Amino acid sequence: MASEEQNESTITQAPFGKTPDGREATLYTLTNKNGVTVKITNYGGIVASILAPDKAGNIEDIVLGYDQVYGYIPNDPYFGALIGRFGNRIAKGKFYLDGKEYTLATNNGPNHLHGGPAGFHTVFWDVEELPQQNALKLTYTSQDGEEGYPGTLTTTVVYTLTDDNSLLIAYEATTDKPTPVNLTNHSYFNLSAGKTQDVLSHVATIDADRYTVVDDSFIPTGELRPVADGPMDFTSPKVIGTEIEDVEGNGYDHNYVINDYDGSLKKIASVYEPTSGRVLEVESTLPGVQFYTGNFLNGSLTGKGGQVYIQRAGFCLETQDFPDAPNQPSFPNTILRPGEIYKATTVYSFSTREK
Ligand code: GLA
Repeated sequence: MASEEQNESTITQAPFGKTPDGREATLYTLTNKNGVTVKITNYGGIVASILAPDKAGNIEDIVLGYDQVYGYIPNDPYFGALIGRFGNRIAKGKFYLDGKEYTLATNNGPNHLHGGPAGFHTVFWDVEELPQQNALKLTYTSQDGEEGYPGTLTTTVVYTLTDDNSLLIAYEATTDKPTPVNLTNHSYFNLSAGKTQDVLSHVATIDADRYTVVDDSFIPTGELRPVADGPMDFTSPKVIGTEIEDVEGNGYDHNYVINDYDGSLKKIASVYEPTSGRVLEVESTLPGVQFYTGNFLNGSLTGKGGQVYIQRAGFCLETQDFPDAPNQPSFPNTILRPGEIYKATTVYSFSTREK
């Protein structure tokens, strides 16, 4: 490969193995002119790899996942997956909408989590290559009643790899009956590319003065509590491990309320890893972000290249609407109605710095 000459961006495909029901999954590889590579499979719309340079120029994989599709079945941690119809939890799998009660599939104690057991992370998406934009357009039509949700929901997700080393994720959905929608991507990052086995030495910043307080089944109480100066505070850069033991619960697994939310695309978080110099910046149009530090990983899963995923092997910044919003009148609306278009954009950008 010529190092001086800029390569063109490319999209290629390869087989990614079979699911237990015998369906072939495909792995699509997007590469930009800097050699940054993002691999996405049609199964679950999963981002299976992101290869980005460290400060010395070594291009390595910075997300958790598997070498073959069968690794993702079941994908209990939701590695890299598209999440829908509703990311995060809906209390007891129930909500009222226009005077009618709906009951969803439950899969997290009494609650509905991440769209249910057969959520968008488990389905095959149709994929269209958009070579002009170095993008993939994924489409999935969720039938009326799927996982208990009303209405036929058509969702498109466009993953674009830009030449400035950003992965842009543009979500759109339309429905024929009112239904809750809250789409996200559940990638787990380890910016050291696994050289630090956990992410406790990463340095995180989140532009949020408040978070949604939850009860012991992770359902919001409705309170938006100031992060104050305590362990929840990431308004200025903080090493993730510094106060993690003081967090209520099992580590960070909280929805942060983005400051000055107005629906425009703006920077909401960044994470820096000192040994590699890698920096992840996150921009989003959404009002919340679930900062999750892989607390439920426990060393029982072995992923790409034989890497054992110990507790806190990766972190997620799941851009989202607020958990349980269909049951929380004070939270921003998450009901999509016929004739409306759900739209959200999140951008993950990869760079490096010396210190
Ligand atoms: C989200 C949830 C967590 C957990 C993970 C997946 O981040 O908030 O509680 O379910 O997904 O393990």
